[in-house]
Amino acid sequence: MQAGDPLDPQQLEAELRRAGLPWAVDYSLQLDSTQSRAALLAQAGAPEFTWVIAEEQTAGRGRHGNRWSSAPGEGIYCTLILRPRCSPVRLLALTLAAGVAVREGLQRDSELALDLRWPNDLLFEGKKVSGILLESSGDTQKLQYALLGIGVNVQQRQFPGDLATPATSLALALGRNMQRRPLLVAIARSFARRYRLFQQERYGELLAEFAAHSSYARGLQVTVGARGGPEQVYCGTTEGLDENGFLLVRTTAGELRTVVSGDVRPVRDTG
Ligand code: BTN
Repeated sequence: MQAGDPLDPQQLEAELRRAGLPWAVDYSLQLDSTQSRAALLAQAGAPEFTWVIAEEQTAGRGRHGNRWSSAPGEGIYCTLILRPRCSPVRLLALTLAAGVAVREGLQRDSELALDLRWPNDLLFEGKKVSGILLESSGDTQKLQYALLGIGVNVQQRQFPGDLATPATSLALALGRNMQRRPLLVAIARSFARRYRLFQQERYGELLAEFAAHSSYARGLQVTVGARGGPEQVYCGTTEGLDENGFLLVRTTAGELRTVVSGDVRPVRDTG
């Protein structure tokens, strides 16, 4: 763990309380994945706004079965247990709103130009700084709980060479170290504001905010890849989001398609 950057869960809880957020922090030095622990806690009845945080994950996971590199003490690895009153189809809007909130939290003390890659990544100069993973339990009508997983690369100076998207960290991007606890508090404050809007069903505002901060939302030439899903690989230009936050892409053949779960990359990346 990096000296001088302790997460200190008691201190974190106190700072959250001072920010008007009485969240419970469940802190571990090492977990396989904060998502797995959060699922166990949620099934056992843990209340909304229980925040599972680990210094290290031995099996951190991302979308499409990717792993999330989670070296001890170098990043933020956390999962927030939520119990939203919404139809499961609205969860994409929650993922997008979380991306906006993390971006705002990370930019609080720096001028870092972060882009939101639909649906769940924060990029600096095309490299991944943060990823979001929303998992849920319930049936098609009613949610039992949602697990909002957030990973942020903070102090890392190097990454494994085989990641699905090249990664960078705040330290590499800024040329200086950032403290993790203030970042966590800033992310929590930003997210709490968006979650209030979400609970008020103000989905349009949340989606508009995502689109305003994402170069991917409109006018970007992309390829949409299958990544284990049923979708075919195709190319086109992004044309905004639909009412649930799914990305619209006008294919080179002129057809308007809705991207449900495919992997979206700029044409220039895929060569
Ligand atoms: C992605 O980019 O595909 C999503 C990455 C999400 C990583 C975070 S780290 C904390 C939480 N626990 C996990 O195992 N994954 C998420």
